[in-house]
Amino acid sequence: MDVKSLIEKMTLDEKLHLLTGKNNWETVSVERLGIPSLFVSDGPNGLRKVAAIVDGKEVTLKSTCFPTASAMAATWNTELVQETGECLAEECQAENVDILLGPGVNIKRTPLCGRNFEYFSEDPYLAGELAAAYIKGVQSKEVGTSLKHYAANNQEYDRHHISSEVDIRALREIYLKPFEIAVKKAKPWTVMCSYNRINGVYGSEHKVLLDDILRKEWGFDGFVVSDWGAVWDRAKSLKASLELAMPYNENHFRVLKKAYEDGKITDEEIDTALERYLTIVFRAYNARCKRVKEYDKEKHHEVAKKAALEAITLLKNDDDILPVNKSKVKKLAIIGEFATMPVIQGGGSAHVQPAKVDSPLDKIKELAQKEGIEVDYAISISIPSHSQYNQNSALTLAEKADQVIMFVGNRNTIESEGYDRTSIRLAPDVENAILQVARRNPNTVVVVQAGSAIDMSCWIGKVKGVLFAWYLGQAGGSAIAEILFGVHNPCGKTAETFPICLEDTPSYETYPGDGIVSWYKESIMVGYRYYDTFEKPVLFPFGHGLSYTQFEYSDLKITPGAANENDEITVSLSVKNTGKMQGKEIVQLYVRDMCSHVLRPYKELKGFAKVELKPGEKKEVTFKLNRDAFAYYSTAVNDWHVESGDYKILVGSSSRDIRLSGIIKINTD
Ligand code: BGC
Repeated sequence: MDVKSLIEKMTLDEKLHLLTGKNNWETVSVERLGIPSLFVSDGPNGLRKVAAIVDGKEVTLKSTCFPTASAMAATWNTELVQETGECLAEECQAENVDILLGPGVNIKRTPLCGRNFEYFSEDPYLAGELAAAYIKGVQSKEVGTSLKHYAANNQEYDRHHISSEVDIRALREIYLKPFEIAVKKAKPWTVMCSYNRINGVYGSEHKVLLDDILRKEWGFDGFVVSDWGAVWDRAKSLKASLELAMPYNENHFRVLKKAYEDGKITDEEIDTALERYLTIVFRAYNARCKRVKEYDKEKHHEVAKKAALEAITLLKNDDDILPVNKSKVKKLAIIGEFATMPVIQGGGSAHVQPAKVDSPLDKIKELAQKEGIEVDYAISISIPSHSQYNQNSALTLAEKADQVIMFVGNRNTIESEGYDRTSIRLAPDVENAILQVARRNPNTVVVVQAGSAIDMSCWIGKVKGVLFAWYLGQAGGSAIAEILFGVHNPCGKTAETFPICLEDTPSYETYPGDGIVSWYKESIMVGYRYYDTFEKPVLFPFGHGLSYTQFEYSDLKITPGAANENDEITVSLSVKNTGKMQGKEIVQLYVRDMCSHVLRPYKELKGFAKVELKPGEKKEVTFKLNRDAFAYYSTAVNDWHVESGDYKILVGSSSRDIRLSGIIKINTD
């Protein structure tokens, strides 16, 4: 279909109507010209298709609930993220959805952000690579994605009004970078603007971001859609290069018409927007004939489980308390309601109706029975109104057991879209319960279900093990049990730093702003960039996660040892599994600028690889580095810049567990 000649045939009213949605989830069609309507749905960790509105409430279809983005990020596995993307696309196809509204790639500036469970990381490189993998997966099946929320939407508090005041360098290096990587690598069909203002200008009206940077600089060739209700002035947003305003709003047409009549928007601006928009509409339309009618629900559950298994992160494991050891444990106490009713996802527009939900306790019982271990269960100790009664039974169980596994976490009323957390600690009654149980049983392990970092300082020293389960999706229950019993080896690592307490976080003093602006005073020093540069202690560093086996790093080679700034550099090393169990290691490569004239973080992630090794097995891991690995954004030249001199290559198992290092000399003359 030749989009240009179609546009020529349209009336002005038809054109202007097309630039705003028809309702919440559909776009406008023009029957007489054969222009179809698109159907879009949330996203990102499952398909949330609204099937009906009953009593004013949306009724959504059941679908597979995959781990949320923060859990997927803990896998550090781009292939797996891509595979879940393919499954998501099949579900979209089967339900006639053209565009899935995800992934969310905003940076975790503060652990308080209510939507952190929906975002990947505090690190732009990791977030960008994972978002690219997600987009590639979904779009490989010709279902579109919407990379969101562009940009600097890092808090839910006052998100409709606040201006994120970010200096240009931080904007480029931290907040835009994941979008840049994903756009360049994976070409999303659409990008969704954010609600907030960026340096005073609404995301929906930000010409510099939407046109100059996204389109002209990065080569984005899809259309920009507004976040739902993020358009204040439809004419200004059109001029800024926002093609589709969602959802339906009767004002938008009127505003556009008036602006046209007043000469404030031109035919060219309207037609350019339509051309971009209709190109995607017909891409989606042409893909419809290839759609599957149904998908394999069991297979998708298995993929969700595979992802959950790789996301689970073993934070602490003193005395090898895990996996549960049948020679030491005859009686196992399981405590906490989340063992039977796991929290599998966060709240808000990302919340899907899971097709089914695995219970951790059921699977624990099944595995324990095979090992001849007796399991006793006590329900919640975290419901204050029942606390006395339940606490007593839980404490009695704890006393009698050889080992205790406590299930705690944040409900999705705590971690949700629309508002932020007010604390990063668990509820006081839950913290108290952990302390009481740990006092009665020294072999206590805590399983935490939450979407982002938690301050564990008051209880971490009293328990032997902590398994961070994130929000694992519908198959997480059995995945947790299989990790606890060593059926699988944990291989997740944190994609965000766990601070000791909220007061230690770099944005503590400026978050959430004064109701007008949120001042990003910490600039580029976000997450581990801040903690590592200023040598601040943390609870668990970025990239941390234990295994039931051990890995040895050796043979670092950097070739060439001296290079020009546009040369490709190869870094290779060997990793060996020196323990007794098969496992996967996430190898992380950081770069440190040794020669800089400007302030740079002490280290920055520039590569990662997940490698599976049998006991005794050794494999070579190779990274390719280009100019991006060494550049910073210079506000003097308004461009990326590399300085001549020495750079340190740091390879390790976490940002604070560097095992190998070497120097590369970069020449820019
Ligand atoms: C959210 C988006 C979401 C949209 C549609 C907005 O409130 O910020 O992420 O895709 O609603 O549900």
